[in-house]
Amino acid sequence: MRAAILPKYGPAAELQVQSVETPTPSPNQVLVKIHASSINPIDWKIRNGFFVLRLIFGFMRPRNHILGIDFSGEIIELGSAITKFKLQDQVIGATIGGAHAEYICVEESKLAYKPQSMSFQESAGVPLAGLTALQALRDKGNIGPDQNILIYGASGGVGTFAVQLGNYWGSNITGVCSTPSIPLVKSLGAKTVIDRTNLDQQLSKNQYDIIFDAAGHGSYGTFKKFLTPNGIFIASTPHMRDFLPLLLTIVGRKKAKTLIARLDGQDLAIISKQIEEGHVRTIIDSIYQLEDIASAHLHAEQGHSKGKVIVQIANE
Ligand SMILES: NC(=O)c1ccc[n+]([C@@H]2O[C@H](COP(=O)([O-])OP(=O)(O)OC[C@H]3O[C@@H](n4cnc5c(N)ncnc54)[C@H](OP(=O)(O)O)[C@@H]3O)[C@@H](O)[C@H]2O)c1
Repeated sequence: MRAAILPKYGPAAELQVQSVETPTPSPNQVLVKIHASSINPIDWKIRNGFFVLRLIFGFMRPRNHILGIDFSGEIIELGSAITKFKLQDQVIGATIGGAHAEYICVEESKLAYKPQSMSFQESAGVPLAGLTALQALRDKGNIGPDQNILIYGASGGVGTFAVQLGNYWGSNITGVCSTPSIPLVKSLGAKTVIDRTNLDQQLSKNQYDIIFDAAGHGSYGTFKKFLTPNGIFIASTPHMRDFLPLLLTIVGRKKAKTLIARLDGQDLAIISKQIEEGHVRTIIDSIYQLEDIASAHLHAEQGHSKGKVIVQIANE
């Protein structure tokens, strides 16, 4: 099969599309023919060899040479213990690496049925960004109707899902983004959109029940004055500078939390249902062919994607 291989940590040019052996599913896995994948920041952070990630993914060299978490595709082989899915089922899924390739072996617990109303390209943008938004707002924020929610980084992969999910739950969503993304964030259903170049001035008038830093560029220190007395700050990306403040909120009324998204098929199925019902859609920033994966990384790494950067792997 064709796959984007990362032999060693470094710049995007280290990625090479090569022919490698197609994997074989174990009894509790299925083999998925991948139609499309997407880029998440963790892909280029691993590729760059960020210190903390080396502790998990291999210190000197990446243990798994194929990056990529998100995929959409079709099941073409079943392990002997598979009970839920069958051959030719169209699925979406997220797993730790291996999705920037033509085929992947994956446990069925990581899969959900692909929303029928979406293309493979659109659905490949859902898994990690959608799960992060869902689990942040539902599990960390205990989101409910009529709450005031601020989404910082509302135009990125995670942010675009967070705005739509928050809207679905009946909250009043305020999105923060850069000037060019204001129309997009409005179109996703944010009640108010704030230009982040003018943040402090505009936020000073309001207080929020939940502030979700979906961009990974905020901090509890910056945002805590804008929380209601029982408000919750959720960081999508933990920073060392936040460690002590996060710890101290254990005793205070205002809370600061962080999360590591669970790659869970049941949660993916919840998002898939919301997509089928028309509440949530994928915003596609750009589409690259697998052969151009280095360019896809370079683009995503700028950190200003409007929605998801998709990698097309098979012809639809
Ligand atoms: N905890 C987890 O399990 C988990 C899972 C997924 C993602 N994440 C993390 O969540 C973060 C966002 O992921 P993503 O997929 O949404 O990334 P993305 O698609 O690249 O979006 C990044 C967002 O950050 C905004 N941004 C860029 N520079 C900024 C700045 N200086 N100040 C404020 N906002 C800025 C961008 O908006 P503008 O273009 O408007 O600047 C964009 O909305 C990443 O750090 C990622 O690693 C964590």
